[in-house]
Amino acid sequence: MDEVIPAHTAARSHACLAVALIGFMGAGKTTVGQELAARLGWRFADLDQLIEAREQRTVEQIFREDGEAEFRRMESLAVRDAVGSLKHGSLVLALGGGAFIEPRVQECLRRAQIPAVFLDAPVVELFRRCERPGVERPLRRDQEQFRKLYEQRRPEYLKAAVCIETAGKQIVDVAKEIILGLNLVPVSGVCD
Ligand code: S3P
Repeated sequence: MDEVIPAHTAARSHACLAVALIGFMGAGKTTVGQELAARLGWRFADLDQLIEAREQRTVEQIFREDGEAEFRRMESLAVRDAVGSLKHGSLVLALGGGAFIEPRVQECLRRAQIPAVFLDAPVVELFRRCERPGVERPLRRDQEQFRKLYEQRRPEYLKAAVCIETAGKQIVDVAKEIILGLNLVPVSGVCD
C-alpha cells in the first residue's frame, strides 16, 4: 500500500524551487512575499502585477472591461508562465486572493511540486487592511459580502502545505515562520 505523506511533510522533503503565497485579500501576500524572497535570495513575483504589466491595465479595469471569468483565465495563464520561468531561478509567487480557488491553478502548482502557504487573519482585520489606499479591489464591497466570500474560500486555502495566522505578527516573523515551516535555507546573514 502506498504510504500517505501529509502535505506538510511532503513540502519539507523536496528541494523547493518555488513557494506560492495564498490567502484572502489583505492577507499580506505581497509584503510577506517580498521579505521572504529577500531572506531566501529568491526572485519575487506578484501575480496581479504580472497580469497588469502584460495587459497594461489595472486589475480593476480588467474586471470592469472583460469580467471576472476572463481575469481568472489570465491568472491561470500567468501562474503557468511563472512556473515555466523557474529555470531562471527560484521564486516566491504571491497569488491574488481568488487564484488558488481555481482548480487549474491548484493542479498547476501540484504538478510543479510548489507548496502553497496560506496567510490568514481574522476577516475584520483583512477588511480593515484593505482600506489602505493604493489598490482597488473589485471583490471587496461591504463587510458582509467580504466575510461571506472569505468563509466560502477558506476551506480551499486550508489545503495549503503550511497555514500561518498573521494577526499581530511582524512581516519578518511571518517570513521566518514560512522558512521554518517549509525547511527552507535562508541566504547567510539575513536570518537572525
Ligand atoms: C481578488 C484579489 C485581488 C485581485 C483581484 C481579485 C480576489 O488580489 O487578484 O482583485 O478574487 O480575491 P489580492 O488578494 O492581492 O488583493
